Amino acid sequence: MQLAAVILAAGKGTRMKSATVKVLHRVCGLAMVEHVLAAVREAGVQKTVLVVGEQGDKVMELLGETVAYARQEQQLGTAHALLQARSLLDGFSGDVLVVCGDTPLLRPQTLADLCRQHRAEQNAATVLTAVLPDPAGYGRVVRDAGGMVRKIVEQKDAAAEELAVREVNTGVYCFRSAGLFEALDSLRSDNAQGEYYLTDVIGYYVDRHEPVGAVTLDNSEEITGVNDRCQLAAAEKALRRRVLERLMLSGVTVQDPDNTYIDATVEIGMDTVIYPFTIIEGKSKIGENCTIGPSSRLQDVDLGDRVTVMNSVVVGSTAADGCNIGPFAYIRPDCVLGREVKVGDFVELKKSCLGDGAKVPHLSYVGDADVGRTVNIGAGTITCNYDGEKKSVTRIGDGAFIGSNTNLVAPVQVGAGAVTGAGSTITRDVPPGALGVTRDKQKNIADWKNRKKPLATQDKTE
Ligand code: UD1
Ligand code: CA
Repeated sequence: MQLAAVILAAGKGTRMKSATVKVLHRVCGLAMVEHVLAAVREAGVQKTVLVVGEQGDKVMELLGETVAYARQEQQLGTAHALLQARSLLDGFSGDVLVVCGDTPLLRPQTLADLCRQHRAEQNAATVLTAVLPDPAGYGRVVRDAGGMVRKIVEQKDAAAEELAVREVNTGVYCFRSAGLFEALDSLRSDNAQGEYYLTDVIGYYVDRHEPVGAVTLDNSEEITGVNDRCQLAAAEKALRRRVLERLMLSGVTVQDPDNTYIDATVEIGMDTVIYPFTIIEGKSKIGENCTIGPSSRLQDVDLGDRVTVMNSVVVGSTAADGCNIGPFAYIRPDCVLGREVKVGDFVELKKSCLGDGAKVPHLSYVGDADVGRTVNIGAGTITCNYDGEKKSVTRIGDGAFIGSNTNLVAPVQVGAGAVTGAGSTITRDVPPGALGVTRDKQKNIADWKNRKKPLATQDKTE
């Protein structure tokens, strides 16, 4: 039996109070709709239709050609949304899984179980339900005396005894495609919200004695629909826990999962230890046996094995095996660190390459620089890469030694094995093996202390 999925994602999400449509809001680094799409795919659907509306172009830009798109120009309700997929499913004769784009916690296994039961019972419709301690806001599942699903009633249309029902509609369904669109076509919008409710299709089938079933979830967390920012935060927290559990079970030590924030897109190798207050985002990849944190933020980084990052920020950069970063380093985008590179305290790097074994141990700014292997950059060194108009490059050859507090006024080149004298301002190239020094000779003024002191303070007790 073929399986298609329709993801309803055309609603603006008014309750989010946002300029961005709801399904593009991110949870653990991915837009909500991306989470839903991933779950649907893993559940084994052959074809996916996404119903988009306002800002549909932005959704299409994000997801590209991986799904088919139907447009719902006016948001007239969930049944109307599903109807927009009709022409794209023309000729399709299998089952149709329907999910909302705002339920990022749904697990693929749950969707697969729903479809399996739907088929086993040969239902026209099977709805995924959950029993919640507080069902407020959800549609209620109304069952008959024999326990069979009778209908779904939206909160705004519910009578008092229906409001007391704690079994809710999760907004996830499996439908037999034959007859589905005819059923949707026949629904009316004479309800409290004046919308075409997809939920009414359940009552429609029951009235016609078509088989309708329900699968009730034990773990209600995963169906949490995100309608406002409070629910967004709750979803983030739940998904974060899942991401951390996956990592921990794969051999990563997360010392304090309550204070560690890792996107769903991040990969981390075995025996790496993550200390508290660490945030790892985007397409970050971290190798084995690394030590990350405490208090570090890594964004789109690629770290090899045995890398240490302590109290630092690293963005859009790569570091090979054995690098040692921090504490209090700031590595900005486009840096490439070779093996065993040291970037110490209060060092800022930007768009720079550092060769194997290079060291910038303290208090430096290195930007637009190409630094060779085993170069040592002394404390306080600055690449003066910006003249107010343009950025220029500094090149430092293998094995060079940059004395403390050197200013390297780019464009400038320090040759392999060359040395700069501490405190020099280097404006011209230093040839390989040479010493570049631009300091004045030191002069000592004898007896300065006694000459400078006012007479009154020169008493015997001093
Ligand atoms: C819906 C269900 C409710 C269920 C809840 C679960 C209906 C009538 N109600 O309510 O029973 O408990 O989900 O979370 O179906 N959408 C469109 N076009 C529209 C309207 C909505 O694409 O015209 C999309 C939205 O983008 C969203 C989804 O459908 O992804 C659900 O819409 P929403 O307004 O959040 O429905 P709920 O009020 O939560
Ligand atoms: Ca919703």
